[in-house]
Amino acid sequence: MMRAVDLLPFALLAASLTCRSALGGYGMGMFAAQTSPPDPCYDEHGNPRRCIPDFVNAAFGKEVKVSSTCGKTPSRYCEATAAEKGEERSRNCHTCDASDPKKYHPPAYLTDLNNPHNLTCWQSENFIQYPQNVTMTLSLGKKFEVTYVSLQFCSPRPESMVIYKSMDYGKTWVPFQLYSTQCRKMYNRPNRAVITKQNEQEAVCTDSHTDMYPLTGGLIAFSTLDGRPSAHDFDNSPVLQDWVTATDIKVIFSRLHTFGDENEDDSELARESYFYAVSDLQVGGRCKCNGHASRCVKDRDGGLVCECKHNTAGPECDRCKPFHYDRPWQRATAREANECVDDEFCEDEEDEEDELDEEDELDEEDEEDEEDEEGESGQDGEAGEKVYRTRWAGMTARRHVDGGELAPGGGAGTEGGAWDGAGPQ
Ligand SMILES: *[C@@H]1O[C@H](CO)[C@@H](O)[C@H](O)[C@H]1NC(C)=O
Ligand SMILES: *[C@@H]1O[C@H](CO)[C@@H](O)[C@H](O)[C@H]1NC(C)=O
Repeated sequence: MMRAVDLLPFALLAASLTCRSALGGYGMGMFAAQTSPPDPCYDEHGNPRRCIPDFVNAAFGKEVKVSSTCGKTPSRYCEATAAEKGEERSRNCHTCDASDPKKYHPPAYLTDLNNPHNLTCWQSENFIQYPQNVTMTLSLGKKFEVTYVSLQFCSPRPESMVIYKSMDYGKTWVPFQLYSTQCRKMYNRPNRAVITKQNEQEAVCTDSHTDMYPLTGGLIAFSTLDGRPSAHDFDNSPVLQDWVTATDIKVIFSRLHTFGDENEDDSELARESYFYAVSDLQVGGRCKCNGHASRCVKDRDGGLVCECKHNTAGPECDRCKPFHYDRPWQRATAREANECVDDEFCEDEEDEEDELDEEDELDEEDEEDEEDEEGESGQDGEAGEKVYRTRWAGMTARRHVDGGELAPGGGAGTEGGAWDGAGPQ
């Protein structure tokens, strides 16, 4: 038999939820009415709902560190031209020279405006061939949820390369995706391994996008969620939420494609034809705020941080702010904002709340009965007030919502199809 004391935590939870709703309802409602544009983290009634920053190219304008760039001393390089495989090749030779802006190919060109009518290319030194490699590293400055990483090449695409990510600002790295014409030989991985629910955080090696042709303009685009079973249920997949999270991206070009002529008599000319050149590096994704901020802003030190709402705090809104620990922190979902609850305020307000709303006082015996009911919502009998159930930590709580327009079972943040459904894209 259940004693009153057993129900105490539940009663406290319910009371604070009620209180928080009242605060959110009236307080934020006024706020919403007075300001424009409205805060995407709250609906038109002032109820918290999930909010996420815009989708951006997180690499744009950022510095990329590369291990090799041509032109420190002026050097000749040659572009092979042949529209199709098997066609006669010819070579056009130029000079790479850091002292002449017209002939320089600095890493800044990787993340500048990608103008198709005036492609600017970063370019490595000639013939840095396996087992040597060329590395490029990009720091995003904070955690992002990355949807894709793409590279547009001016040279032929590499024969083998790896995209890595770091979640700890470059201290440790894990592969995101590997590309090779010979996955097993190069990286000791199977070609195009199938991803199942059991290994969703595993990088795949593939021989797609590794053809030498086209000799210029080829693309490599890695979509982080592509082919991963839980992608359609991203909200409920901590594994994939972790998988797409990155603070830094690193690309290692392991091996150059060649025509096989680099060891022939005229090898000098041949070697001048082999280098890596990239016109655009993109990292598509969203600033990671766990559904509790609609944008990221510069902090006092110039670093990027989430502009946290829903009583959350931290660079990724990854904890409750002080005095809002009434229930554990949770990421927001499309259905539930999972806002942090103001414990102190509610304790002060509890008496008043009780006086105002005698009927709202949880009747513990009734509650047991209600928990057995299947209905997701019900009319409370009080004018203009609806009650629906909130699931949290295995408990069911009654929650009173101002305005009475909340759909049964629906969360406060299900509108706005942009981020309904799978993934951070
Ligand atoms: C192409 O872009 C480079 C670098 O931004 C610039 O210096 C150059 O003037 C541009 N050329 C044309 C034809 O617009
Ligand atoms: C890349 O090359 C550097 C220097 O040659 C080497 O230390 C590093 O281990 C290489 N990295 C990979 C992943 O091959």
